[in-house]
Amino acid sequence: MDQPNHSALFQPLRVGERTVKNRLAKTATGETRASADGFITQEYVDWYDRIARGGVGLIHTGVVYTLLKGKMGPHVPGLDKDDKIPGWRSVADTVHRHGALILAQLQHPGRQMIPVPGVGHEGPTEVVGPSPVRHLVSLIKPRELTRDEIKEVIVSFGEAARRAQEAGLDGVQIHAAHGYLVSSFISRRTNKRTDEYGGSLENRLRVLDEIVKAVREKTAGGFLVTVKLNSMDGLPKGVTLRSLPEIAERVGRMAVDAIELSSGTYEYPRTILGESMVPVVMKEGLGRYLPTPVKIVARTINPLLNAWFRYREGFNMDGIRRIRSVVKQPLICMGGFQTPEVMVSVLEKGEGDIIAMGRQIIADPDFPNKVREGRTDIRWCHYCNTCIALAGWKPAACYYGADYSGVKPPMDGAIRS
Ligand SMILES: Cc1cc2nc3c(=O)[nH]c(=O)nc-3n(C[C@H](O)[C@H](O)[C@H](O)COP(=O)(O)O)c2cc1C
Repeated sequence: MDQPNHSALFQPLRVGERTVKNRLAKTATGETRASADGFITQEYVDWYDRIARGGVGLIHTGVVYTLLKGKMGPHVPGLDKDDKIPGWRSVADTVHRHGALILAQLQHPGRQMIPVPGVGHEGPTEVVGPSPVRHLVSLIKPRELTRDEIKEVIVSFGEAARRAQEAGLDGVQIHAAHGYLVSSFISRRTNKRTDEYGGSLENRLRVLDEIVKAVREKTAGGFLVTVKLNSMDGLPKGVTLRSLPEIAERVGRMAVDAIELSSGTYEYPRTILGESMVPVVMKEGLGRYLPTPVKIVARTINPLLNAWFRYREGFNMDGIRRIRSVVKQPLICMGGFQTPEVMVSVLEKGEGDIIAMGRQIIADPDFPNKVREGRTDIRWCHYCNTCIALAGWKPAACYYGADYSGVKPPMDGAIRS
């Protein structure tokens, strides 16, 4: 029998002023491998050594904070201060030895922050957002950011990008998806402001626009700047497939080198279609810190969540198809990809330019090399979502059918100089 032809996945691609060696990327997945105070650890470096060795061309880190006030949770790394640069340099050097590029995903959690004091999280306990719109999962009503605070966030993204470049990283991805701060500015549902950051779409995109400009001002020489956007938020007045093309077209006019398209928020968990993570997240993950009524409702509707958010391969492609003609930059497709033939078809039809995977790469970091070599011993992801349910508490890894009770995030090994 003829071997399937997967060569389309292994063609290089020009992104901005850089070349990615193939069309396979790791999308951002929080590592839970930084020290409690946000430094890169040896364990973090080793994880990216393992991933880059597997053959992927482009790596997005998990969320990285730019301001301590914008730290999402325990064991998230920071680029908020110059003393973190040496650790990041180790990450960049390690990844480059394998010929991959690496972008740090800069993020502020905004209204999706769930404060967890007393578990090694020295981050914020105050939840902020564009407007005081109560979050349906945490039940927290965020405090509205002042204009000075918005400026502080924008400046911090620029400074974090400068540090990323000094450390030798290839670029940054600005997280403008999943309901976090930048994404919540874009959505009319969560942005009710009446100043220049709210109202029209132009105003709602202003934070992102000013972040892109701040990052460009602080970096140079082919440093990549990409954006992760949502195709839909799933709730009334949020981003929809209908409003997406205009958003993407405007973002494409910013000085960005590529756009990655995702979907969903904590309030509409379409980001990670697959088995509902409610049982594990409520017992052992961040869900333990949610109000009791939320836990009861979540457990009650769990069968419905399983039905509504069932896994499907390429589940953001409906959005991608709507923005292809309005975005000139490379499009990074993601959402449930794991079959090489499906990925090849996306590239050959010209629907997208890079295929990014999260859970499949966690399940088998060697996936790219195995596909290239025509090997069939791939360890498949079952989309059980245990990896994400434990995010913040246990290092990201495939826990399918595994006993993870003794697994802990790093307590030492921080690279401080
Ligand atoms: C363990 C884990 C951690 C994640 N952390 C992040 C993150 O830090 N930033 C982000 O944008 N998305 C994060 N995601 C979502 C992924 O980027 C991606 O949207 C999702 O997993 C769907 O892609 P997949 O089907 O290829 O896994 C995470 C997903 C997983 C499984």
